[in-house]
Amino acid sequence: MFLLALPLIASALVAQDTNINTQDASARVVNIAQDKQETSSVIKLPAPSLGSFTLEKALRERQSIRNLTGPALNLATLSQLLWSAQGENRAGTGRRTVPSASARYPLELYVIVAKSESLPEGVYKYSSKDHTLTKTKDGNPETLLGSIERMQPWIPKSPAVFIFAGVSSRFPGSDAMRKETDTAWESGAAAQAMLLAVVANGLGATVANGVNLDAIHTATGLLAEEKISVIIPVGRIAK
Ligand SMILES: Cc1cc2nc3c(=O)[nH]c(=O)nc-3n(C[C@H](O)[C@H](O)[C@H](O)COP(=O)(O)O)c2cc1C
Repeated sequence: MFLLALPLIASALVAQDTNINTQDASARVVNIAQDKQETSSVIKLPAPSLGSFTLEKALRERQSIRNLTGPALNLATLSQLLWSAQGENRAGTGRRTVPSASARYPLELYVIVAKSESLPEGVYKYSSKDHTLTKTKDGNPETLLGSIERMQPWIPKSPAVFIFAGVSSRFPGSDAMRKETDTAWESGAAAQAMLLAVVANGLGATVANGVNLDAIHTATGLLAEEKISVIIPVGRIAK
């Protein structure tokens, strides 16, 4: 009750607790209002763990996998994948796993998830600063993407769909092409980092940009300035 009565204080407390390393199941959810996007709940992710899978093995095994299936990704797995693409890797500096021109960080990372034992279904936005997810919309890959025209059928069947969106206006100056190029570059670097983490976590994924990205933008309720650059469905590899 106290948390619900003082939602902003509660979310700040959740954000401060940066060293949780529980596997999942104990997600703390705080409902707060957020401007522009529909609903929100802040969920603290477990700290990412450093595994022993080698970079060379991940590079050797990376390939596009489209026969993706559940179970849905739990919080521990989401933590690994989100951190790989945009997580802070030098505590307290704001600096991330992937480089960024002038450290302007134009990317926003979302994930549409099917319901897992540790997370309700929905569209969630990642915050690298406090390693949290904030729910921005109800729904799951099937309900949000399934009816989009010319959708590739394997995409809504995936238990998680990551969306990389760029806000190129975060770069200074008047060279619009340069801003777009730097945003696209960073998106590609972040996507590849996630694809390697997918392999290291025993999962499958494919970059899937041959779809109507504007329709996905609308269906998922992204902010107007967030332009989708890459989507990556992820899941277990069906036998
Ligand atoms: C920008 C981009 C867009 C892509 N779009 C799709 C897509 O819409 N659907 C799909 O099934 N694969 C898509 N792919 C995956 C490619 O088909 C795949 O990477 C290519 O066939 C090479 O296979 P590999 O990834 O297994 O090495 C895309 C890849 C990239 C880089």
